[in-house]
Amino acid sequence: MRIQAAVVEGPGGPFTLRDDLVIEAPRSDEILVRIAAAGICHTDLSTRLRWPQQLSPMVFGHEGAGVVEAVGDEVTSVRPGDSVCLTYRSCTDCGQCTTGHPAYCDTGIFALNASGTRSDGTTPLSRAGDGRPVYGSFFGQSSFASHALAHTSNVVKVPADLPPTIAAPLGCGVQTGAGTILNVLRPPRGSSVAVFGAGGVGLVSVMTAVAEGCRVIAVDPVAARRAKALKFGAVAAVDPQAVGDVAGAVRDHADGGPAFAVDTTGQPTVISQAIATLAQRGTLALVGVGGRAEFDIMTVLTKGIRIRGVIEGDAAPADFIPRLIARYRQGVLPFDEIITEFPFHEIEDAARAASAGEVIKPVLRFP
Ligand SMILES: NC(=O)c1ccc[n+]([C@@H]2O[C@H](COP(=O)([O-])OP(=O)(O)OC[C@H]3O[C@@H](n4cnc5c(N)ncnc54)[C@H](O)[C@@H]3O)[C@@H](O)[C@H]2O)c1
Ligand SMILES: [Zn+2]
Ligand SMILES: [Zn+2]
Repeated sequence: MRIQAAVVEGPGGPFTLRDDLVIEAPRSDEILVRIAAAGICHTDLSTRLRWPQQLSPMVFGHEGAGVVEAVGDEVTSVRPGDSVCLTYRSCTDCGQCTTGHPAYCDTGIFALNASGTRSDGTTPLSRAGDGRPVYGSFFGQSSFASHALAHTSNVVKVPADLPPTIAAPLGCGVQTGAGTILNVLRPPRGSSVAVFGAGGVGLVSVMTAVAEGCRVIAVDPVAARRAKALKFGAVAAVDPQAVGDVAGAVRDHADGGPAFAVDTTGQPTVISQAIATLAQRGTLALVGVGGRAEFDIMTVLTKGIRIRGVIEGDAAPADFIPRLIARYRQGVLPFDEIITEFPFHEIEDAARAASAGEVIKPVLRFP
């Protein structure tokens, strides 16, 4: 079937809309989804910069939402016509998957989500005409496209009356920000939580921690994002570029330092600030993607700091996404307030606006 997709031709290249792509019919365990909306997550933008040439051209996108168009003969979880959102893929069989922690699937998050192909090395996408392969299967979807092939483990049914632009970011950014609080840190009511980086993921952590009755201190250099954090109920929002001692400035708002911190920046200096600001026996959740960081061993030892890596909020999507929808509908997870909608063909503008800090959570709308 001919589809339209935003193709990245090589490392760091722009998203270019092409109408000359072909997608295969679903295999027995696959689900073909007509995409109605797709969120842009920072991971799409950072991954396209370092994506290997040998796996190019590539289609990204891992926060798709839409309607099931066709299913393979082994699929029983959804039917054509169902409204769904797409999330990350897991094997469903290993010890982690069967005990409620598919984000830590033994197969590894990269193998099933960021290899550019299906598990068997094939790609369901190609160019019409010369039949050259186009890589994809990003998070088992590649949803910057009119249609995506997904799998039982990463397709979650959503209510038909939930707008697709709301359903889309549930699959990664919202799940990650909320799950970091609800599944991983589980801060007691009244405790303090510092959130470093008030972007798409961080602001969802802010609103979730506030809803759990926590005192939240947000840190972000972008004034509009600090303003959002305050609007969502943070007790303070620190501009790291305006204070010499960021850790101290956060501590000023949490007696003895916050018991919990979330890093969504992946930056070594910010991670050091988070460790420095934490209270004795505090816990730091590392969410932002990054390279290497250094920390002072004696600080971590003597404070009894726990550092916990978080993938996708340690959430089992089939259970967690319906919970998030319920929270959204109760008004305690107002993530619609961080969304800016763009038509699909403006994907490059949307990406630029997100990188420039002009919008927080771009969500693409499909015609
Ligand atoms: N672990 C996971 O499963 C997972 C899931 C989704 C996203 N991510 C990663 O999480 C990170 C955040 O994603 P996002 O979509 O929210 O990105 P984003 O760009 O919207 O948010 C990052 C924020 O950090 C802020 N920032 C920059 N420098 C800072 C500093 N010195 N101090 C404090 N804040 C600073 C930026 O202004 C921005 O608001 C990215 O690295 C993304 O790849 C991880
Ligand atoms: Zn698994
Ligand atoms: Zn993501």
